Amino acid sequence: MTTAQTTAARRVSYQLHTLWDFDYEPTHQDLLTLYETAKKNQWNGSTAIDWSRPVGKEGPVLNVQTAFQGTQFFSRLTEEEQKEVEIRVSAWRLSQFLHGEQGALLVASQLVNPIPELDSKLYASTQVVDEGRHVEVFERYVKKLHKIYPVDPLLKGLIDEILASELWELKLLGMQMLIEGLAIAAFNLMRRQTGDPTLADLLDYVLQDEGRHVNFGYFALRRSIPLMGDPTRAFLEDFALKACDAMYARDEHTGFQSIKGVWNEMGWDGEAIFRDTITNSQTVKAFNRLLFTEVLIPRLQRLGLISPRVEPRYREIGLLD
Ligand SMILES: [Fe+2]
Ligand SMILES: [Fe+2]
Repeated sequence: MTTAQTTAARRVSYQLHTLWDFDYEPTHQDLLTLYETAKKNQWNGSTAIDWSRPVGKEGPVLNVQTAFQGTQFFSRLTEEEQKEVEIRVSAWRLSQFLHGEQGALLVASQLVNPIPELDSKLYASTQVVDEGRHVEVFERYVKKLHKIYPVDPLLKGLIDEILASELWELKLLGMQMLIEGLAIAAFNLMRRQTGDPTLADLLDYVLQDEGRHVNFGYFALRRSIPLMGDPTRAFLEDFALKACDAMYARDEHTGFQSIKGVWNEMGWDGEAIFRDTITNSQTVKAFNRLLFTEVLIPRLQRLGLISPRVEPRYREIGLLD
């Protein structure tokens, strides 16, 4: 790829309407409380985490025994190959978190402009700092562990669509609800599986912040969706459906496919291992259950975004009974 093409692939163009709020009247107590909590719970990525420890030496970064339990390929690997898988798959996964954090930083900074009320703007300003810190700590960790893998095309595509939209409601739905919902579920799973104290500390700190971000999205959308016109609501419903459909890994066309590159890099058949993992890994099944049936779908239902119009499609995919 030439430099010009690379730059084009990185660039996202959009138009944003910036709103001032000259009322200076507190409007939402829930957001003011969240803003206070955000100010109180700031932490410094350089000092809160002990970076002097060697990464991945005190315990597995990702417990691959658990993560790939049930798959056919994993039981055939030697001990050295298993260690190699642990480092590379962890680096790939954490790289996606890193790119997602950068996406969250970009979206949070956009949100300060179009979101109507001052308490929302103030809260959004704290999310900008939070996400900056998340980029910092994930970048530091991944570089210490191995290397930064490229952004997954599905992740990049979703974030670009969120960035390019002029609707602040779509930014909140796409980032705070769906992508951060996915991130929290993945961070929690990784936190339970890791034996590495540096990663455990990092995830504990990041998770504290992420909980607030999801609440921000939920509080703001819960108020705005009932007041929305039908075409805008339908647009949000369609985006949520499309994102869930793409992220729900269930065949060779869905899920974050760029992991195949890690398997190919090791000289193995990326397509076959991808299929083996989504079909047989108990962790993948448990993760999908947790993410979709326990977190995302109930949240979308509470927000009124699974209307009778889109409900049949959720059933077809297998995300609703
Ligand atoms: Fe974050
Ligand atoms: Fe976040």
